[in-house]
Amino acid sequence: MALPPCRRAKDRASVRGPVIEIENVSRSFHRGPNLVQALRGVNLAVSPGEFLLIKGPSGSGKTTLLNLLAGLDRPTGGAVRFEGTDLTKLGDVAMSRFRNQKVGYVFQSFYLESAQTALANVTLPLIFSGVPRRERAARASEMLARVGLPEKIRERAGNLSAGQKQRVALARAIVNRPSVILADEPTANLDYRTGGEILDLLVSINREDRTTVLLVSHERDLAIQGARHFWLEAGELREQDGRPRDSAEGSRSVSGG
Ligand SMILES: Nc1ncnc2c1ncn2[C@@H]1O[C@H](COP(=O)(O)OP(=O)(O)O)[C@@H](O)[C@H]1O
Ligand SMILES: [Mg+2]
Repeated sequence: MALPPCRRAKDRASVRGPVIEIENVSRSFHRGPNLVQALRGVNLAVSPGEFLLIKGPSGSGKTTLLNLLAGLDRPTGGAVRFEGTDLTKLGDVAMSRFRNQKVGYVFQSFYLESAQTALANVTLPLIFSGVPRRERAARASEMLARVGLPEKIRERAGNLSAGQKQRVALARAIVNRPSVILADEPTANLDYRTGGEILDLLVSINREDRTTVLLVSHERDLAIQGARHFWLEAGELREQDGRPRDSAEGSRSVSGG
């Protein structure tokens, strides 16, 4: 696949059609004598710039779904297309390049190189994508400022608080200006307030850069204004209306801005 160079936000409007299309996707795993159906007949079309919140209990298939979209896993059946390219047709090299250029992944447990500085962690994807050395440091520090960590760029990742680690991970996810951010329970290891700050950052990146965001969470009462809301249960995905359920204990409604 001939991947175009990274697109800047202002060019994104020129992308026609859905950024993601999932057609009748299933994914099953063998576990001993059993076949676990992690995803069943999932259909989804996502337009550029949308924010999707996919909620579901533990074991419902959330991580499996994101892994398919990131090209980290392949479906047992059905098709996954990303900007029109069928991901199941990519070889290993094209797939690595696709992940580096098109997808920013944010994990519950950050996955930073803890002995490396914040700056070095954010620089890593730029090395892989061949950005010249001088530009790398400038872009990485720009991203760290963007996520609110300008003064921590020389700090080792291992010395940062959980919230600061997730900010670094977010800067790393956006440094190559991906089309899509996949966020797998990014607030699950954070306290309520810090988690809210990470959600606000995701919302502002979505709005300002038109970066498509898919956020998965087991927080049943989470609602994000302007997002499309989905419910995933036992591998089946359904779209819901996004009205927050009022006054539920621990409910959270994010409006960004
Ligand atoms: N690599 C795997 N091998 C076997 N079973 C798996 C594997 N990955 C996920 N599963 C199973 O698939 C189901 C969905 O898992 P997962 O996508 O991780 O759910 P969630 O992220 O919503 O908690 C679970 O039953 C899980 O045990
Ligand atoms: Mg998971």
